[in-house]
Amino acid sequence: MADQFLRLAWSDSESDAHGYLVIDRLVGGISGGGLRIRPGLTLDEVSRLAAAMSLKNGALGIAAGGAKCGLDADPRDPSTRDVLVRFVRAMAPIFDAYMSTGEDMGVQQSTLNAVFAEVGLQTSLRASLRASGDAAAALARTSGALSMTVEGTPLVDLVGGYGVAEACAAACRFLGRPTEGLRAVVQGFGSMGGSTARYLVEKGAVVVGVADSEGLIHNPAGLDVARLLAARDPLGLISRAAGVGPGDVLLPREDWLGLDCDLLVPAAVADAITVDNCSAVRAALVVEAANIPTTAGAEAALSGRGVVIVPDFVANACTNGWAWWVALGEVGPSAADAFAKIASVMRTSVGELLAAARRDGVTPRAAAEALSRAQLDRLAAQHGVLPPLVGASL
Ligand SMILES: NC(=O)c1ccc[n+]([C@@H]2O[C@H](COP(=O)([O-])OP(=O)(O)OC[C@H]3O[C@@H](n4cnc5c(N)ncnc54)[C@H](O)[C@@H]3O)[C@@H](O)[C@H]2O)c1
Repeated sequence: MADQFLRLAWSDSESDAHGYLVIDRLVGGISGGGLRIRPGLTLDEVSRLAAAMSLKNGALGIAAGGAKCGLDADPRDPSTRDVLVRFVRAMAPIFDAYMSTGEDMGVQQSTLNAVFAEVGLQTSLRASLRASGDAAAALARTSGALSMTVEGTPLVDLVGGYGVAEACAAACRFLGRPTEGLRAVVQGFGSMGGSTARYLVEKGAVVVGVADSEGLIHNPAGLDVARLLAARDPLGLISRAAGVGPGDVLLPREDWLGLDCDLLVPAAVADAITVDNCSAVRAALVVEAANIPTTAGAEAALSGRGVVIVPDFVANACTNGWAWWVALGEVGPSAADAFAKIASVMRTSVGELLAAARRDGVTPRAAAEALSRAQLDRLAAQHGVLPPLVGASL
């Protein structure tokens, strides 16, 4: 992490909250990555996430570096919104020039839209809109896309999980097994976990376990995902009274990892699968919706046992990819346009990645990292690294 472009730690003047912002690298003068709010967030975690964002852009061939930011604060505390306003105000020159951001764990895009407007930056995607060459047209496209909903759920909360479900289907195709009847367990039921479960069910998979921060809901015959989605609050917590159906069993949240299933989708916290708990894994396939959910040691142990892991920066890249594609005019604002592009990109990229890993005898992560770094270096050579300095001749 020593070679990262920018690492900032911020202390709130009016509370105990801290904030962090890291730009891993710039390509063409810009970078992008989400904003998360969670108690216990550290500069180190934000640095690792920013590095993963670079890989995400490289994997999709997007001409931007990776970045990440966030607050060590409780997203459920009503005073956190004011902390967020102060953080965004303090970081405004960076969001103006270098870094585009969007929703991540503990914060929704609708909150960011309101906060960035309040601070005078108009949108959290400001830097990427300016990079598109025609900021007004890009803003109109992005505003249109951000206002889209699918059956009442904002499209921005669906595209990431739609991509994860497509990655699962592509991995199944590669492994020669049908998605129909695939038994899946999802850790986390917010934007990513909820939408992944929703689209896995559309593909005929059976979701046998869903964990949120309060525990695991398990049904070996399959959960009613639509019912669970309807019982969810904006931060992905499921009301047990409304969501738990006949035959569902409540278990401790840690039990998600060892449930009998074919597919695990970690879609919550970092370092969820570690050397200490990975021996419990019974699934043959792990598709990472969360960022950095599997430690390096756990990945080595699982790979040694033949478990296929589709890495985070490939599987969950589509919220980020979609935002850039819309800003750059490569995808229209509608849900149909978004889903068509995501399906086509994920089918190709995951299939090719798993084939390359098998051919070279390396893990999918190693194969994807090599591919992504080469793409980023090529894009940096083509677009430059730093932005031109406006007013340098003063
Ligand atoms: N939102 C996006 O577009 C996006 C895109 C790419 C990657 N990600 C990554 O996906 C992960 C989830 O993000 P999100 O936006 O869906 O978050 P979210 O805040 O919408 O939901 C988080 C979910 O995880 C659950 N959770 C929290 N701690 C848990 C624990 N210890 N055990 C089980 N469940 C727990 C919460 O109850 C909630 O259901 C994060 O790692 C994030 O970085 C998000």
